[in-house]
This record gives sequence, C-alpha cells and structure tokens, in this order.
Amino acid sequence: MDRHTLLTPTVVEPLLRGRFGRPYLWVESCASTQDLLRDPGFPEGAVAVTEHQTAGRGRAGRGWEDIAGSSLLCSLLLRPDEARPVQQLSLVAGLAVAETVEESRDAAGIKWPNDVLLRGRKVAGVLLESSGGVVVCGIGINVSQAEGELPAATPVPAGSLGSVTGHAPDRTELLATLLEVLEHRYDAWRGSGLAPMLDELEARNVLRGRRVEVGGEHGVAEHIAGDGRLALRRSDGTAVLVGSGEIRCPTSVGHQRRMDAPRTPDVSD
Ligand code: BTN
Repeated sequence: MDRHTLLTPTVVEPLLRGRFGRPYLWVESCASTQDLLRDPGFPEGAVAVTEHQTAGRGRAGRGWEDIAGSSLLCSLLLRPDEARPVQQLSLVAGLAVAETVEESRDAAGIKWPNDVLLRGRKVAGVLLESSGGVVVCGIGINVSQAEGELPAATPVPAGSLGSVTGHAPDRTELLATLLEVLEHRYDAWRGSGLAPMLDELEARNVLRGRRVEVGGEHGVAEHIAGDGRLALRRSDGTAVLVGSGEIRCPTSVGHQRRMDAPRTPDVSD
C-alpha cells in the first residue's frame, strides 16, 4: 500500500469543498464501509472511507473485491425527503460517479441503474442500503488495479481507470471531486427530482437499443423515464417500464455511445 497516498483525514479534509465529507471517517481496513455509519447521530453528508474491505458488498448479494489502496471505497450517509423515491438515488449517484471518472477522459456510460463503464468496462458501482429514512450510498471505483488484478467472470467485464485509460488518477483528488459532484447532483435531485439530469443520463445510457431481460420482462431497452424507470419495448410492440432488478444483456455493452447521442436491503433490487 506504500505506493499510494492514504486517504487519511489529514490529506482529504483540506480538499473538501462542500458539506459532504463532514464528518470524514477513515480506517485503514474494515469489513465494509457501509457498516461504519450506523451511529444515529451522524448528519447527512457523513462519509466513511477505507483502503481495503474484507467483506465488501455489491448489489444483488454479490461481493465487491479490492486490492488495498487501489480503489476508492466510500459510503455516504443521506437523509432524503420521503417525497422522493429512494431508488432514484441510484441514477443520481451513478451520474455523479460517471461525471467524476470521465473528466478529461472518455465519456462514461451508465448501465441502468448505476453501473459506470468506461470503454465497455465496469469501473465503478453504487450500492444503496436504506433503513428508517437513512440511506447509505456506497460507491466503489476501481482506480489502479492492473488487468490481472480485477475480478473475472463478472456480468460486465471489470476495468480500472488505470487499466482502461492508461492513467490512474490521484485518489485524493478523485474523492474530493466525487463528493463535490455528488452533493451538487443530490441537491438538484432534492429540489427538482430527476428532471434536470435526464438528458445527461440518457446521453450515457449504454442499454438503449439493446435486448435485455430484467425482472422477467424481455425487450429492447429504450430511454430512462422521468421517474427513473427503464423503458423496454417488447417484441409484440408494447412498452413497459421496469423499476428494479438485475439487467441481463445477452450482447456486450462494450461500445460506448457518443456523448451527444439522442436522448440494509439493496434498494435497487
Ligand atoms: C455494485 O456494483 O455491485 C455495487 C458495488 C458497491 C461497492 C461499494 S465499495 C464501498 C461500499 N462498501 C461496500 O461494501 N460496498 C460499497
């Protein structure tokens, strides 16, 4: 781990630009950062970060693997207004992650609801766990793992920012940017829902035009609807909106569109 700058409070706190990341909790290793924000006294914006998880959690009961110091592993505590559907936070967070990792690189893709892809490789994922009005939004970004250090046999081939682009960014800057962008997107969502970000989500929607299966529904994926559900066109021509579930996609989501293309329980399952 010595070749990485540790994401300690001394290093990260001076870089924070908003209210997310306050308080900022860091441990060198833990089971899962999702479990570090249980104190009911934590305010919205509290963040837990670690260098290594021994039992990292992914969506749909999967695990999330890392190599110490080579990922961004963080959890953020949110207390969203009851009026807003919590599942939409998957898209809000996914968009914030996409924006963060694509800065000055390729356009990132979003595989609904919240996998983030660069050049067809999944480089980041979002896990929402909620109970009692509190949502813990966990984000894992693969930063510097080499090709052979990434998990194999994943539904979408895994990549890291370094393995995909040839350049692994500084994790401290990446974290500060992520928290800033996330706060901006979250505040916009709190105020106006998904509407202000639908075009940007759609521009990154890697499923559009692909044949998918989700929650027993089969069809060709179309747009992301205003309420965050994914529109599918069935083979009989009828349309259906799906709100949750694991996407199965027989063809690779490997090719990213141009950016200007047309337009506790895991809460996203
Ligand atoms: C997924 O794509 O399946 C979601 C992965 C989420 C992983 C992050 S890493 C930080 C936080 N702690 C966890 O145990 N999981 C999330």
